Amino acid sequence: MSLKSKTSDLKKRMQGALQGGGDKAIQKQVAMGKMTARERIIALLDKNSFHEYDLFVEHAGKDFNMDKKHLPGDGVITGIGTIWGHPICIYAQDFTVAGGSLGYMHAKKITKIMDHAMKLKVPIIGINDSGGARIQEGVNSLAGYGEIFYRNTQASGVIPQISVILGPCAGGAVYSPALTDFVFVVDKISKMFITGPEVIRTVLGEEITMEELGGAKVQAEKSGNAHFYAETEMEAIEQIKSLMSYIPWNNKKPATKFPKKPPVTKDYKIDEIFPTNPKQPYDVRNLIRSITDDSKFLEIHERWAANIVIGFGRMNGETVGFVANQPLVLAGVLDVDSSNKAGRFIRFCDSFNIPLVTMVDLPGYLPGVDQEHAGVIRHGAKVLYSYSEATVPKITVILRKAYGGGYIAMCSNHLRADFVFAWPTAEIAVMGPEGAANIIFRKEIKEADDPDTVRKQKIQEYKKKFANPYVAAAFGYVDAVIEPEETRKFVNHALEISKDKSEVRPEKKHGIPPF
Ligand code: HXC
Repeated sequence: MSLKSKTSDLKKRMQGALQGGGDKAIQKQVAMGKMTARERIIALLDKNSFHEYDLFVEHAGKDFNMDKKHLPGDGVITGIGTIWGHPICIYAQDFTVAGGSLGYMHAKKITKIMDHAMKLKVPIIGINDSGGARIQEGVNSLAGYGEIFYRNTQASGVIPQISVILGPCAGGAVYSPALTDFVFVVDKISKMFITGPEVIRTVLGEEITMEELGGAKVQAEKSGNAHFYAETEMEAIEQIKSLMSYIPWNNKKPATKFPKKPPVTKDYKIDEIFPTNPKQPYDVRNLIRSITDDSKFLEIHERWAANIVIGFGRMNGETVGFVANQPLVLAGVLDVDSSNKAGRFIRFCDSFNIPLVTMVDLPGYLPGVDQEHAGVIRHGAKVLYSYSEATVPKITVILRKAYGGGYIAMCSNHLRADFVFAWPTAEIAVMGPEGAANIIFRKEIKEADDPDTVRKQKIQEYKKKFANPYVAAAFGYVDAVIEPEETRKFVNHALEISKDKSEVRPEKKHGIPPF
């Protein structure tokens, strides 16, 4: 055979493999409002950058007539391309081929590209669209998942791992996304659950649809399993690209530096965002935008545990992770969900050397039987642990309330914040004036001729003494009381001088965070 005919034979084979599950299966995919696996990869990566590998991999199933079946690429596409000009490793399950189900060779393709990502120290992106373990391949499918989970765990904190759920992601398959750093879901397309509606009906007698059980909204708003929610696949792709512009490619490299830009102060004026009435809520995201470059802020977990805000912005061109109490929701308290949300984000930033800026305004941890019984002690401890463990530059700005455990937890001086700034409106105390006066002056109030007037007097007395930043500043727990308008200047300076910060932690195999 001549070179020419061998080349045309190769082309024919490639064309065959590129058909995926064939026209009918592709039409079904399109009818469900879904892109095909290859279209997804092409849309996400820089133009013409995708290099596909293992196109000719064949499945290894022998039972149930599988040996007579041809499954192109074994239902998953793998390769390397670029985003923003930097290489990334990627796989996308192809639902048109045996429902994207995961057999032995399918898993081998995924683990091989994950190994490449670890060797090359580049992010791995997994697009999930699969019926789960390939039933006909039995334990080899389970082995495949185990190999993926092991690699997810090894890669954690070394390279960023991103999961995109663009179809079913059922059974144990959900645990790979759960082990990765960021999970993206799309309305009406993503479905994640461990046991489906059928099993739930049989075992528990409960009726529920797939959407109600594990649809995109549920995962982004209720369970918190998803970090980003999009209305369409293309929107999710834009979100991924945006995230990738903020994060480093591995734990040894800094994130891409952008040109410095001032905030858009005409749209984000601090004195208009921050109310004079200390009881009035405000949107802390606007305060973040009032200090970030170009007033840009990429919020993560926007729809879940909204009493805390987390996300990325840039200060003087460099990525910063923001953690801020949100007075608009539950007065910005820490509770089970918000502690989980913040704790994990802080650890991501610390792993990837992203400095943390914390904005504080909270009355403390949320009281209540539900919270106590849901383990707010254990979950709340995650915030303390993550901040104490983190050695990246940590800068804290106390805006208003910083009461009790909330004060300590939100990256206080005691958890080794490098710089704590407080606005003159800050109130740093064991608890709010009303609660405090009722406890410490209970006897005087009770015995007074006019208890209401005495209560008010005592509240005022307490406020004057403690509801300010100056007592904390007098002990050096606050490094500077600053004018709100100077926040960006102080934070930028603190970030600049903390660049070469180094902090040593005790030698150990690893700590035991309150999981
Ligand atoms: C083998 C599968 C499959 C699977 C789907 N297919 N899931 N083949 N193993 N797990 C095949 C179908 O037989 C069908 O093949 C094709 O994919 C498309 O599937 P449909 O059912 O026609 O599609 P749809 O109606 O859209 O339904 C999608 C679905 C459904 C909801 C995902 O297929 C489904 O319920 N699949 C099984 C899900 C499941 O229970 N998986 C195992 C989970 S346990 P043909 O040839 O007809 O086109 C698990 C354990 C892992 O994953 C544990 C790891 C720790």
